[in-house]
Amino acid sequence: MSSSLAALNRWVDEVARLTRPASIHWCDGSEAEHAMLVERMLAGGDLLPLNPDTHPRCYLHRSHPSDVARVEHLTFVCTREREDAGPNNHWMAPAEAHAKIDGLFAGCMQGRTMYVIPYCMGPIDSPLSRCGVEITDSPYVVANMRIMTRMGAAAQARIEREGTFVKGLHSIGELDPERRFIMHFPEELTIKSYGSGYGGNALLGKKCHALRIASWQARQEGWLAEHMLIVGIENPEGQTHYLAAAFPSACGKTNLAMLIPPEGYRKDGWKVWTVGDDICWMQPGPDGRLWAINPEAGFFGVAPGTSAATNPNAMAMLDRDAIFTNVGLTADNRPWWEGLPGTPAKDWQGRDYDPANGPAAHPNARFTVSARQCPSWSPRAEDPQGVPISAIVFGGRRASLVPLVFQARDWTHGVLVGAAMGSETTAAATGAVGVLRRDSMAMKPFCGYNFADYFAHWLSFDRPGAKLPKIFHVNWFRKGADGKFLWPGFGDNLRVLEWMIRRVGGQAGAVETPIGYLPRPQDLNTDGLDLAPAALAELLSLDREGWCEEIESIGEYLESFGARMPAALKAEQSRIARALAG
Ligand code: GDP
Ligand code: PGA
Ligand code: MN
Ligand code: MN
Repeated sequence: MSSSLAALNRWVDEVARLTRPASIHWCDGSEAEHAMLVERMLAGGDLLPLNPDTHPRCYLHRSHPSDVARVEHLTFVCTREREDAGPNNHWMAPAEAHAKIDGLFAGCMQGRTMYVIPYCMGPIDSPLSRCGVEITDSPYVVANMRIMTRMGAAAQARIEREGTFVKGLHSIGELDPERRFIMHFPEELTIKSYGSGYGGNALLGKKCHALRIASWQARQEGWLAEHMLIVGIENPEGQTHYLAAAFPSACGKTNLAMLIPPEGYRKDGWKVWTVGDDICWMQPGPDGRLWAINPEAGFFGVAPGTSAATNPNAMAMLDRDAIFTNVGLTADNRPWWEGLPGTPAKDWQGRDYDPANGPAAHPNARFTVSARQCPSWSPRAEDPQGVPISAIVFGGRRASLVPLVFQARDWTHGVLVGAAMGSETTAAATGAVGVLRRDSMAMKPFCGYNFADYFAHWLSFDRPGAKLPKIFHVNWFRKGADGKFLWPGFGDNLRVLEWMIRRVGGQAGAVETPIGYLPRPQDLNTDGLDLAPAALAELLSLDREGWCEEIESIGEYLESFGARMPAALKAEQSRIARALAG
């Protein structure tokens, strides 16, 4: 037996002694295993069958009504030094955190099966990929991990070869919000999650490993683990540019990653290729460019709002082999959510639909589906060396002030633009919705260490020989005086991406302003676009007074990190403040 397999066995024994399961199942990822688990879940009520004629091998999972989103207030980064976790994370001393959560794990799997899930984040043969093992008592977690990661025998073989893996221990516990913690120990490459069955809290390969732990490893090893989609844009000449875009949860990543070009673009031969919709690992290649992989193998997407009009690619992959969580049902047992045609019969809690009870689908209802079912899945998506990134895009939900798009002057300015990102909160996390907060690089809930050190790490990529992507900021969510979105969004976002690609190639015009380069209306392709010239002018205008306040507030935000904040970012903030005042 290899020493890493021995270490894995020792850990599994240790966990079994603590949690006392009735049996232990090592997941191999096979079809037969999946069929057995589905049977078990159908029998136990974890899954409900959907209409087999319209949705073969699709199932509905209803989570506990108090367990429908990530819980940022119960999520901790437990580093030896509090300062290393930073003011952007909740912190607990490692010994205290282990004691607290092990107290909850003690005996928690009695009468349950304990599943051991070896998984690989990223293509199984990519040097950029990393492995982990999740132990869980939830078969729903196993079924989701099978879609979201490369799970099973091949991952276990890689772990035996490599020796290192991230340890993740999970139990749904009693699903009691008072007995719920999501804890990360980056120095021990360990995650412990108790009391939730919801995606981001329970599928430990995703946010816990691929973002919080991986961001820590990435800083030590010289790469980046980011909350970004990856999309390839192929122009009529057949050249493909890959873009990576960081938007906070429920702010448009999945939609942008699967964009369908407007009709005129389709006729001209533009194509869009999906590489990833949530997480991006990037590393400088020998050519100085940043090369990116998507560590995931599936999509865990927001269901409400997904329709044939907004995201036909997503609709095309959701009629077979998919898991739906907290959606409503039609009378003929098809999944239903707000934005779809037809009417719901049952809501997400299984009650007869009554508008008085709120929407039929929970606003954070999700689908889980293999990326291979996506019609726009890129032929390069599983390339072990990844894809080269031409542009990095930051963006958020900003009802006012922030223009449709602007370009940063250079890398340092771009890092400030990312650090300063603000967005209105969404249903993806428990808490108030629609509150504007800073969400640097869309990583506020996911950076496994001090943001000041994270910004310094970003700045460090600007070094001799680097051929860095250009950095942009977008806002699809600007509202007019009538409270409606000014920009049509979705497929029309390609117009903005085209401008970016042409900026990268030095072919598109712009006007220089204190906040960066903005397109003039004539710099965007508006052929066939249904938008009043006044709306476009508003989307591309600079509100100097509003930005003076914004840059001051950004300055206060940088100050809140104290002496660890890189001086270069503060200098950049001062430069922009002076330019806006002058
Ligand atoms: P993600 O969580 O970042 O992957 O975001 P999604 O792509 O799932 O989108 C979240 C919500 O925002 C859904 O309800 C979408 O319909 C909506 N959305 C996505 N893109 C746009 C857009 O360009 N404009 C508008 N107005 N809404 C969008
Ligand atoms: P999202 O992923 O970014 O697609 O919403 C889940 C999350 O971030 O909670
Ligand atoms: Mn996300
Ligand atoms: Mn998404």
